[in-house]
Amino acid sequence: MEAPEKSAYVRNMFSSIAPRYDFLNKLLSAGRDKSWRKAAAAELPLEKGGSFLDVATGTGDIAICLIHGAPRADVRVVGVDFSEGMLELGREKVRKNGLEDRIELRLGDATALPFEDGLFQGAIVAFGLRNFSDIEKGLKEMLRVVVPGGRVVILEFMNPENPLFRRLYYFYFRNVLPFLGGIISGNRDAYQYLPDSVLDFPAPAKLKAIMEKCGMQKVRHKLLTFGIVALHVGEKPLRS
Ligand SMILES: C[S@@+](CC[C@H](N)C(=O)[O-])C[C@H]1O[C@@H](n2cnc3c(N)ncnc32)[C@H](O)[C@@H]1O
Repeated sequence: MEAPEKSAYVRNMFSSIAPRYDFLNKLLSAGRDKSWRKAAAAELPLEKGGSFLDVATGTGDIAICLIHGAPRADVRVVGVDFSEGMLELGREKVRKNGLEDRIELRLGDATALPFEDGLFQGAIVAFGLRNFSDIEKGLKEMLRVVVPGGRVVILEFMNPENPLFRRLYYFYFRNVLPFLGGIISGNRDAYQYLPDSVLDFPAPAKLKAIMEKCGMQKVRHKLLTFGIVALHVGEKPLRS
């Protein structure tokens, strides 16, 4: 798929599954999604206070998780996403949690972020990078908008390495997940796209190399839940 075509496809797909997105996340990850987000949020230096960016925020779970995990009341989060359907549900959740004064969810494209350089203490993207039409552009944008020394955190699905586990997982991922996701969301294509996009996504070592190529330093990663998810962290150099 060409870049503009992929962007339009992804945006329409998320807008169409938005009402069922949170429920399906919990169901299809057997409730693990919450702990993955928590582990990712813990990689940002929330104890320093200030503003943090949640790229491809969707329904705002990471943004809310950051505020709940922040030890200081002066931590603020801006979430950005290009699906108005996902953002609407996110804003409703933010209101229900009484966090309107600490979280702002706004429309924007991750590959052309509507922010000036060095505005945020750190940036995070959870289950979003794989959907970008241009991964490197997205990573460079995240790096651009954080302060020198600021962190970029990436949470993303991966292909597990253990051959036995991988066979079991692929059976679930390629058959059960599209079937259940399709019935519940009414959009089988979207839940077929999920395994396809993960199978195409760079392995952890390759992603680390891409992050370095985009200008990040001190890049490290760890695998979660038998390697079906990876958490990558990189830093913006103090001087470029
Ligand atoms: C799988 S959801 C993840 C949402 C949320 N981060 C979470 O952890 O649940 C992926 C999100 O990425 C958004 N997205 C994909 N490409 C984007 C882009 N280029 N710019 C902004 N948002 C994008 C989609 O609209 C969707 O809401």
